This record gives sequence, structure tokens and C-alpha cells, in this order.
Amino acid sequence: MTQVKSICCIGAGYVGGPTCAVIAYKCPEIKVTIVDVNEARIAAWNSDELPIYEPGLEEIVMACRDKNLFFSTEVDQAIDQADLIFVSVNTPTKRAGVGAGRAADLAYVESATRRIAQVAKSSKIVVEKSTVPCRTAESMRAILEANATTDLHFDILSNPEFLAEGTAIQDLLKPDRVLIGSMQTPEGICAQQALAQVYTHWVPQERVITTNLWSSELSKLAANAMLAQRISSVNALSAICEATGADVDEVAFACGRDSRLGSKFLKASVGFGGSCFQKDILNLVYLAEQMNLPEVAAYWYQVILMNEHQKKRFVSNILSTLFNTITNKKICVLGFAFKKDTGDTRESAAITVVKDLLQEQARVVIYDPKVADEQIWMDVSEPGVLDNRAMVGKQLTICKDAYEAAKDADAVVILTEWDEFKTLDYQRIYQDMNKPAFLFDGRLMLDMPKLKAIGFKTQAIGKPC
Ligand code: NAI
Repeated sequence: MTQVKSICCIGAGYVGGPTCAVIAYKCPEIKVTIVDVNEARIAAWNSDELPIYEPGLEEIVMACRDKNLFFSTEVDQAIDQADLIFVSVNTPTKRAGVGAGRAADLAYVESATRRIAQVAKSSKIVVEKSTVPCRTAESMRAILEANATTDLHFDILSNPEFLAEGTAIQDLLKPDRVLIGSMQTPEGICAQQALAQVYTHWVPQERVITTNLWSSELSKLAANAMLAQRISSVNALSAICEATGADVDEVAFACGRDSRLGSKFLKASVGFGGSCFQKDILNLVYLAEQMNLPEVAAYWYQVILMNEHQKKRFVSNILSTLFNTITNKKICVLGFAFKKDTGDTRESAAITVVKDLLQEQARVVIYDPKVADEQIWMDVSEPGVLDNRAMVGKQLTICKDAYEAAKDADAVVILTEWDEFKTLDYQRIYQDMNKPAFLFDGRLMLDMPKLKAIGFKTQAIGKPC
């Protein structure tokens, strides 16, 4: 079996960075080089201010950077020196062409694969780390075999990443499972074992699952679709709770006590976000459509429609509660990241909610502890459209402090479950707000009876009024 001594990871993003930093940390004898075409991102990985925020990440990076962990823009050199290459590039939803709005854009995967074929001078194990449609490995193999300059051998593995942003380091250090798919040939199985041996430096053997390539690729899409489906299911129930007087937290608790269901991912909210759920479900929908399975496609698509509905329903509740107009009213938005403990805003429910509030001519003031101001500006105004940005600029303010954001506001709206929002001085916030002072909890995180006692007019998703 090949013993992996040198790893290259193409793509220094939310997955490539933390995943390979943990590999370097746990396997001191393996040299790990993470490369990216984005120079600013690599410079940040080499600085004191890492490009992404994840609890525990900085300690891991600092412990092995420049020892056996390197960040570089020298893509070709790192490919050449590695025995195993992770392809961890972005796979966004296609914006144009065939499958636009549904299919994954595989341009970055293809370009990274072509680069490997052009540069490699020795045989390599190439690992799909990016989330890709089922059978992408076959395309990668075709590209590698057709473009390789010398008579080299490439083994392709699928090793999808299951980490969640905000808990990435814990998820990587103690994964529920590591999934490795390979061709069921002697060479494929040998490559699978070589990668398994990297993980068993710290992951118990029984948690390393091996499957065929296609099962591995599909399992990642299936896992995300099922997780998102649970959120959409509980969010659908939250609407029924509001209409009937049931309490969604009580319903979720009672259901979650059923050991067949389990209690995780049953928290109602303003809607799921993040770079993966929507994209991966769309990917599955597209796959089903391509396989001529329209009912299957419609079934999974409903998970996304429910999520959109939940965001719209939340804004519509704000509007009706504030006497059917929010024109010129000041709305304080607490939280913009798609969830706590990350600065990532991709597909954040806050983007839709804030855009809808702006559309209603509200004055919106946002505070988020980790999201950069520029990111918020980019998310809420159409990138590149200056007029739009100037227009948004008249209605939007970004604050460095929750109290400043809430001053003179008509309503406070919680959109991310940051822990610090639990311990704010709500008495002080109430005093500084216009009256009646409304508070909308889109994350079911605050003590509503306490806030009511202060004087707030409160509303929370799935709770009796
Ligand atoms: P990202 O956008 O943060 O990072 C991807 C990086 O790849 C970028 O920095 C980009 O510059 C770089 N890149 C693209 N093409 C390149 C090339 N040819 N050569 C060198 N660098 C190149 O994306 P993220 O979030 O890390 O996701 C990567 C993959 O992992 C995606 O397929 C995603 O679906 C999947 N995934 C993401 C998770 C997440 O929580 N973000 C969790 C599990 C899987």
C-alpha cells in the first residue's frame, strides 16, 4: 500500500483550509501544502489574521504552520511534490447555460483536474473533496487519463467533507464518520486504504467507511438534503403552531424524544442558509430531473420552497405587526452570518430578510460580531451595480455594537443565534427604542416572558402570540 508522505490541497477555503490544517496537526510526518489561486486568501492564511473564523482553527494552524503545513500560490510545485491531492475547490450552482439555477458549476473542479494532468510527473491519488454531482469522478478520470503527458497512473477517490461551519474543528477532530469511495479495483482499494491510513492517525478505524465511488458522491448530497429537509419540516410545523397556539419548541422536543427521530436539527428558525444545503439539494433535484424522475425532483425541491416561504413569512409578520408599514421605520437587525460562530454569509437568511425590509423602505441597521462590513454591502446590493449600492446606502447602516444599532429603533430582529445576543442588557435596549418596542426572534433563542415583562412586544417563530 502507498504510504502518503506529501499532500497537496487545491483550494484554501472553508473546507480545504481547516481539513488539511487538521491533517497536518494530526500527522506530523506528512507534509501538507494548501494552495489557491487567490493570492489575498493565501496571504491571509500566512498572516496573524486568518481568512476564515472557526473556533479552534487559529491554534491548530499556528501549531504547525511552516513546520509541516504550508500555504502557497505555487499550485504546480505543490501538485508535483504530492503523492495525494485533495481537490477542494468551490462548486457553486450554475448561473447560466444548461442546468442554470440547478446544476453544480464544475468549471473549477475541471480546471484543477486539468492542472494536475498537465503538471504531474509521477502517479498520484486524486481525491474529490468538493461536493460534486454523482459520477463526477468519472469525468475527472477521463480528463486525467487523456491529458497526462507521460504514462502515469491516477487513482480517483471520493472523500466528501461533512464538517459544519462554526464547529469545523470539532467535527474534524471527532467526525461521526469519514467516507471514502473508490473504484472497486485492486488499485482503487489500495488508494482507498492509503487515504484511510491518513485519517486513522486520529479517527477510530470503525468510523472510516469505505464504499464505491458513486455511493460516496451521492451520500454527501443525500446527507445534506435530509438535514435540510428536517429544518424545512420543523419550519413548516412552526407555521401550524402559530396558527393553532401550539409551541414549536415543545412540539420539536416531544418529537425529538422519539429515538427513531432524534433531537438534532429540529430547531425552527427564519430558515437555513450556508453555502451547501440549497446548492446540494438543487444538485440532487437536477440529477433526478436528468434521470427522468420528476416526482423525486419535485419532492426535494419542496425543501427549498419551504425555506424561501419561511423567510417571506417572517418578513410578512414583521410588516403586519408594525401596522402594515415599515417605511422610514428603523429596524435593528442582530446577526447577519448564516449561523453563529462563523463570519460566512453565503445564502444567509439575513440577506433575503434585509433585502425585503429595504424593499419596504425601512431604515435597516445591522450588527454582527464577525461579518465584515464590506461583505454585508456586497450581499445586500447587487455587486457591480453602483446605483443600487448608492440607493441601499441611504437606507442601510452597519454598526459595531448592538446597543448603538438598537438606539431609536422601532423593532429589533434576531437573525443569527450568536451567544452574545442572549446576554445583552435588554432593559437598556428597551429604554433606548421607540415605543411600542417590537422584538422578533428568528432563532428562538431569547427568554420571551422576561422580555415581555420589560415591556417589549415580542414575536418568535412558531410560538403562541
Ligand atoms: P471556498 O469558496 O471557500 O473555497 C474554494 C477555494 O478554491 C477558493 O479560495 C478558490 O479560489 C479556490 N480555487 C478554485 N479553483 C481553483 C484552482 N483551479 N486552483 C486553485 N484554487 C482554486 O469553498 P468551500 O466552502 O471551501 O467549499 C469547497 C467545496 O467543499 C465545495 O464543493 C463545497 O460544496 C464543499 N463543502 C463545503 C462545506 C462548507 O461548510 N463550506 C462543507 C462541506 C463541503
